[in-house]
Formats: sequence, C-alpha cells, structure tokens
Amino acid sequence: MCGIVGYVGNRRAAPLLLGALKKLEYRGYDSAGIALLTDEIAVKKCTGSVSGLSGALQMAGTCGIGHTRWATHGAPSEQNAHPHVWKRFAVVHNGIIENYKTLRAECEQRGETFYSETDSEVIAHLLEFYFQGDLIAALQRVCSRLSGSYALAVICTKCPGTVALARMRSPLVVGVGGGVWCASDMPAIAAKNRTYYTLADGEFALLSARAVFYDGEGRVIQKKPAACDAEDCIPVKKGYRHYMRKEIGETASVLENRSRMLRAWTSPAVRQALGEARRLSFVACGTAYHACLAAKCAFEALARVPCSVTVASEYRYADPILEKGELVIAVSQSGETADTIAAAELAKQRGAGVLAVVNVTDSTLAGMADHVLSVGAGREIAVAATKSFNAQLMLLYSLAATLAEAKGKRGYGDLLKELPSLASQTVSVGEGVRAWVAYFMSASSVYFIGRGADHVAALEGSLKLKEITYIPSEGYPAGELKHGTLALVEQGTPVVAVLTSERLAQKTMNAVHEVYARGARVFLVTSLAEQARSKELTGAVVIPECGEIFSPMLSVIPLQLLAYYVSVARGINPDRPRNLAKSVTVE
Ligand code: M6R
Repeated sequence: MCGIVGYVGNRRAAPLLLGALKKLEYRGYDSAGIALLTDEIAVKKCTGSVSGLSGALQMAGTCGIGHTRWATHGAPSEQNAHPHVWKRFAVVHNGIIENYKTLRAECEQRGETFYSETDSEVIAHLLEFYFQGDLIAALQRVCSRLSGSYALAVICTKCPGTVALARMRSPLVVGVGGGVWCASDMPAIAAKNRTYYTLADGEFALLSARAVFYDGEGRVIQKKPAACDAEDCIPVKKGYRHYMRKEIGETASVLENRSRMLRAWTSPAVRQALGEARRLSFVACGTAYHACLAAKCAFEALARVPCSVTVASEYRYADPILEKGELVIAVSQSGETADTIAAAELAKQRGAGVLAVVNVTDSTLAGMADHVLSVGAGREIAVAATKSFNAQLMLLYSLAATLAEAKGKRGYGDLLKELPSLASQTVSVGEGVRAWVAYFMSASSVYFIGRGADHVAALEGSLKLKEITYIPSEGYPAGELKHGTLALVEQGTPVVAVLTSERLAQKTMNAVHEVYARGARVFLVTSLAEQARSKELTGAVVIPECGEIFSPMLSVIPLQLLAYYVSVARGINPDRPRNLAKSVTVE
C-alpha cells in the first residue's frame, strides 16, 4: 500500500506533488509527506490525509517526492511518515522491506541514528553508505540488499534536479510531458499529452529533464510507452457525493459492455486452457475471493468441473497439492494484491497454468500470468469493491457458460445477456434499503444469511457493511447459525436474509423464523415475491429473478447500497474507510 509520487520540471513542485498525492489517497491516508530538493532537502509531514500538508504549498523547489501512507511498520505518526531522510538522501517507499531489522542493526552498529519505527528508513541510510557519486549505481547496490517489495523514489543533495526510482513487486509508473513525473498509479499523474511508461520488477529510472530507464545490470534500456485512457484515468464523481455510490450505479453499463464482448473474452488459448483443465483452483482475497466462491457454484453446476477456492494468503503457506491438469485462476481487481500474486507465483513454480482475471490489465498479476482476462469494470476508486465484483462475476459466469456450452449444455449465454438490464432494475429497487438504515445505525452486530449462492451474497454483503460502517458483522450459511452463532442474536439484532432459490426457500425461511423468534429484526433480499410478504420481516426488497446460480450478481446490489447508506448515515466517508486501502500490495 501507500502511494508515492515524484516530479522534476520547471514549475514549483510542492502544489503538483500534493495534487498528485491527493489522487493516490485510496492507497492509504494514515499520514503524508513531501520532500523538496534545492541545495538541501526540505521536508514537511503530517498525520492523517494529504490535506494536512496545505502548509507545504509554499515550499521552494522544482524537484521533489511525496508519499501517502498506509501504516505497516510503526503507528501512523508524523515520525513514521515518509519521506525518510538521512544526511544527503530522502526516500519514499511503497512495499515492505522484510529484512529491515538486520539492515538497521548493521547501520546502528556504524553509529547511525534512526528516527522512525518503519522498515523504510533503512533505505536512506544504505543509500548514504553506498553512494559514490552515481545515484543509479548506489540504488542498485541498495536494492541488492533488500528482501521484500518496493517502489522507491529518491532524491539526493548531490544530484540536483533528479529523482531516482526502483521497483520490485510494487507498481510504479513514469509520465513524461509538462515535466517528468512518477507515481504508484496512473491517475495521480494522468494528463493530456503525457507519455507513460511502466517500470518492471528489477528496473530503475533516473528522472531529470527526461526519463532514462535502466535494467537490473545498470544498462540503459528503451521502454515502450504504456497505454493510458485519460478519460478513465482521471477520477470524477459525476455529480455523486461519493465514488462508491457512483460505482454501484455504473454496474449495469459495465455489464452491458462486457456482455457485448462476451465472445472476445474466450480467446482460443483460454478456451483450450479451460477445456483441458481437470480441476480449477481459485485464489483471491476479500471481495474477489467472494467472486470466486460464486464462480465455483457456476462452474460446478453448469460445467461440472470440480473447483476449489482458497484465500490467497492461506494458499501460499498451505503447501497446496496441485494435480495434473489443474488451472489456477487468480482473481484481483487491482492485480497488485501481494497475497494473490504470491499464490499465483507459487502455482506457476509448481507447474500449474495461471489465468489472471483482473480489472487493471497492466498490473503485476497480469504480467506474470499465462493467460489474462480483463473484467473491464473501468477504474474503481472507492476502497469498497462494488462494480468490479459484478464484473468479475460476469466474466467468470461467462467462462462457466462457455465451458458448459462446449459440453453440450446450452442456453446460459442468453440468460447472461439479460443481466445488465436486470442489474439496472436492481439498483433502482435496491434503493428501498434506505428505509432500513435506522435499524442498523446503532446495531452492535449484524448477521447476513443465505444458502448456496445466496450465502456468497451474504458474505459479500457482510464484508461491505463491516468495512465501511465499522459495525461488526458476519455472513453465515443460513443453516449454520443454530450451531453456535444464534447465541449472539438479541432483541433488535438486524439479520439480513438473502433468498433467491425456490429450491431452498423453505430452508432459508426456517432460519428467518428462528432468528425472529429470538427477537431479531429480519430484512429480506429476495427474488421470490411471496416470501417478501412474511409478517416476520421488518423490510424486504424484491429483486428481479435471474436463476439461482447467477443470483449473487443481483442480490449483492441492495447489500452494497445498504452498506453505503448506513456508512453515510453514521458520518463515515464510505470511499475511504479507516485502516484500509484500495490496493493491498503488502503481505
Ligand atoms: O484488488 P483485489 O481484488 O485483489 O483486492 C482484494 C481485496 O483487498 C479487496 O477486495 C477488499 O476486500 C475490498 N476492500 C473489499 O471491498
């Protein structure tokens, strides 16, 4: 996590760096800081968001670096905020230096003083130690000592008008035009008439009047410009108060685009990889993990391919048994989630083919996979994933339908084509959850229940609620509550049941009766209108019918909206929940 930026040019760097950092706050907003290079290095830091740096706007200098932090090592304090300075160097870092304790001890033995608890500060010390006049050579030497992940931007009083960069498993892009820029992500520096380059792992760059790129051996390399859709890159709220609500509203159009491209997704190579797969292993984190659970329901029910789904951070250390003919499908909105990348790397090392399903196609995960499919959700700014989840489902369902078709089971493609318009209707009826908000405002816990595919929606609804409202919440299989968790249901505890399966209706309603009998306030998201008439319900939203297997695509929408409206009513900014960041590039 964390966002880093750098600028070299003719204009005053401070306002440009602050503007760029603001656009990276989705990566972390615990603290922020900038360092400007003149004859010396001047630093300004603050706790909290970048707006706390407004006093830095007047700082002199046309070359500098900046950072917005998501704390990993050390509290979110001013002391731990980047940039970290040691003698002639200032550094900003995104990633984790795993061997920092050893390196720090080495520096301390030389009598050097450390001011922070971070893993990053040691980089400035090592640079000072190894620097002999050539910034790239020093950076290379330092990087050879580091284990872990890093995107680094460095300034040095001996190298006026220069920012040096290094990258290993943390994203870093360079923009040339109106100055020379770098950032963790394109939106921070997106502008018309600018050319972009993506640094690859092990590469370095020197930004001055131009950008010069180096490979791991220090040889100058020529890089191809990277594509940047300025429209997509420059975030706008389009009249909405928050990105999250705007992004939920975009679901139908995202699905519409995807459904038009349905055929194009399944390139012959992907078709072949899927067709030959004897088993599918999904790895992902958070919301993407839930998309994989939904995909398992679809692949197993439609195409009868056995699937397993593992949280990526667990997969990596579980010593997974990979069978011959197993295809690993790594799903990630950002394509930068360290745990998912590590899981995919492990699968590759063990000889499995890896299919990456990503929203960001120039991401690290996409770069290392054998096959890549884009979910095409467009840029998602809110920390809580919404439209990207639906887009992931659309793609994964389409793959399952394609595979089923190849096995002679037709008809699912037609149903998929209806999903965009059904999603649009669901966003409208989903607004009905606004009437539920008062019952959730001061709840001490909330439960989401469902069976089968409805359980997946319950899990995702629960994750949304907890991450942006801070209300403790659990998603449960409806039949499992009575095996322990029912003990937590008290008078007034909100329970949200998801019910889209005719087959399982009575079973899920049994759980509704059980929690109602213990005083719960029950809310229902259902496609079965008659169930919504139950007298035991405090509220119900009836969504369109789209079949049990594909139902999480629709049933999740009212749950996303519920989390959003409860968050706003509790005075929280749903786009930037505390302690979280959009892109989790650390383990
Ligand atoms: O970029 P990814 O899809 O790999 O991210 C995975 C999770 O970090 C992410 O889904 C997270 O759980 C979201 N904040 C959920 O809304």
